[in-house]
Amino acid sequence: MKHLLSIDDLGGESGIEEVLRVTDRFVEVSARDIPKVPALRGYTVAWLFYEDSTRTRLSFETAAKRLSADTMNFSVSSSSVNKGESLRDTVETIAAMGVDAIVVRHKSAGVPWQIARWIDASVINAGDGSHEHPTQALLDAYTIRHHFGSLEGRHIAIVGDSKHSRVARSNVKAFTALGAEVTLVGPQTLLPPSLEGWPVNVSHDLDAVLPTVDVCYLLRMQRERMTEALVPSLREYHTYYGLDGARAARMAKGSIIMHPGPMNRGVEITADVAGLDNAVITEQVANGVAVRMAVLFLLLGSGVDVIGSQS
Ligand code: NCD
Repeated sequence: MKHLLSIDDLGGESGIEEVLRVTDRFVEVSARDIPKVPALRGYTVAWLFYEDSTRTRLSFETAAKRLSADTMNFSVSSSSVNKGESLRDTVETIAAMGVDAIVVRHKSAGVPWQIARWIDASVINAGDGSHEHPTQALLDAYTIRHHFGSLEGRHIAIVGDSKHSRVARSNVKAFTALGAEVTLVGPQTLLPPSLEGWPVNVSHDLDAVLPTVDVCYLLRMQRERMTEALVPSLREYHTYYGLDGARAARMAKGSIIMHPGPMNRGVEITADVAGLDNAVITEQVANGVAVRMAVLFLLLGSGVDVIGSQS
């Protein structure tokens, strides 16, 4: 595998499982006193974020540094993009400096595929519009597997704005490939207009679904991608679909609550629920670093075992 543009690039269950197995090793590395290995010494990883990001960018940066790669951080807001430089010229300029991988986030679907056609480096999709966000799906799958041993037969509700969510698209692919049953929950206006090819159930009734789930996965209302008002008000959305303390209390014993961040507290989740013991949101963030180490290692690594063990 040269690029990670979509969950499809992993070729189904076995490819996804391989990333999760390698992630186990990097979770172990991350717990060491010095959480750093020489696996990618001499490699350069660049990021190209045309959209805002806190955790995904920092997570990739931490992952690359823990693998001893050199990093090149491109900030769109202070670059020649503001002087009208095209995407292609920007990408070719970065590639000419000699990079091995480019991590890209862009508001338009398909941009990472386009970049992969222009340059020789590996391209990792860190989110393209409403389309895909494969490393988020891998870290979510890893987190669920950590809690339940496997995703096989687990029931996962993805609640909220799946229409605009690249996280939902990648997660549905990864979770179902690993044997989970997925139900998209939300008002009709926030569900994808066509569910053809989506191996999911659909429900408009969160209260009916909640007691049956192992995982309640909440999505942010992605207002920046909405061109029209899709819910009467955020307050009404919260009344029907927000996870508050009373709803969380009706979830089954052992079930977990997830959110990719950034959270809109008071909309899809209340502050008290975000702090519950079974809300694993910061665990997702921590696993994100190890998953991204695994992805960079699998795309760029020589295959030689340089992870080692703690001395
Ligand atoms: C998501 C994203 O940007 O796709 N966040 C993330 O990467 N953790 C989800 C979102 O913006 O709501």
